[in-house]
Amino acid sequence: MPPAPDTALSSPETDDADTQTIVTSGIQPSGRLHLGNYFGAIRRHIALQKEAHEALYFIVNYHAMTTVQDPEALREHTLDVALDYLALGLDPDEATLFVQSDVPQVAELTWVFLNLLPTSRLEKGVAYKEKVAEGLTPNAGLFTYPVLQAADILAYDAPPAGAELRVPVGRDQRQNIEVARDVARRFNNTFCEKGAPLFPVPEAEILDDVATVPGLDGRKMSKSYDNTIGIFDEGDTLEEKVYSIVTDSAPLDEPKDPEADNVFALIKLFAPDEKREEIAEQYRAGGYGYGHAKDALLGMIEAHFAKARQRRKELVEREDYVRDVLREGAKKARERAEALMAKVRKRVGLVTSA
Ligand code: TYM
Repeated sequence: MPPAPDTALSSPETDDADTQTIVTSGIQPSGRLHLGNYFGAIRRHIALQKEAHEALYFIVNYHAMTTVQDPEALREHTLDVALDYLALGLDPDEATLFVQSDVPQVAELTWVFLNLLPTSRLEKGVAYKEKVAEGLTPNAGLFTYPVLQAADILAYDAPPAGAELRVPVGRDQRQNIEVARDVARRFNNTFCEKGAPLFPVPEAEILDDVATVPGLDGRKMSKSYDNTIGIFDEGDTLEEKVYSIVTDSAPLDEPKDPEADNVFALIKLFAPDEKREEIAEQYRAGGYGYGHAKDALLGMIEAHFAKARQRRKELVEREDYVRDVLREGAKKARERAEALMAKVRKRVGLVTSA
């Protein structure tokens, strides 16, 4: 029988290893979170905290350093993401929430992984290629970004044999998860005996209907395109954004194709099936203008996030609590990452004299 993979993960006796899922995912603190982050990732993260055997979510401030070089802004955004997650329903008793840089083992693991990948693998990176295409010289952090992400995903020790490591993300992360899969295999092939891999090969979980949430201009909603609607935008800011969503110039009376419209693409995310169909019918019938659709969308956004907004306002007053959550999360994550790194150091031949 091949030796079982190394693991320091505890598995409750009642759980069947075959059905266990470990979930890891991260979010950059590079500005206020938006509806793309919410529907593409956070909503699923929160659902998985109960469904998965274990869920680890991290605020990736090392990653954000590839673009944010204002220390005050980085600090502020980092706490903001924690507030957002908690307000949206992350339960620290169910999921582990922490700040990436509180687990320096991730940076150490990145270094190990960097030596397993040819530079040509990273030259294919979309974010890197985009910068080069714009005529800019990307920094080395951006070039190696996917390897840091691989370390994030793989740092928290192997799930028990038979369990899977899942990474719920939006479609834009698919390529980065491929790098993590590649790195895991390369490490196992280079440093582990056949049949005794150290790393599981992670699986991306990308939900089709929310894989790419469009922004105000119909392109992918993204901070870098300045086309976002913030999860916690409200009042005039929210209204201005909703009413600035780009539509065609079809007059009010004309029948419209809901599937070709940016406003409807967002309505679809919020509306339950019946409501969605009712609005689609109104589009097709004519006499329903984009202004009406925007009114409907605005109401849906406000209703959907009303409770979270209230909770966020309360949490802002409880910074100590938020910091406690992050401290506890980091402690747990660090212990796990250190257990994993001890195995990695041994396998690759790093002598530890301490
Ligand atoms: P980031 O911070 O850009 O986005 C966080 C999550 O939101 C998803 N997302 C979207 N989904 C659908 N439609 C959109 N318009 C949209 N915009 C953003 C992203 O796909 C992501 O799931 N590299 C990652 C952060 C990261 C990470 C990790 C993720 C670092 N380490 C480890 C998973 C596992 C990023 O920049 O996400």
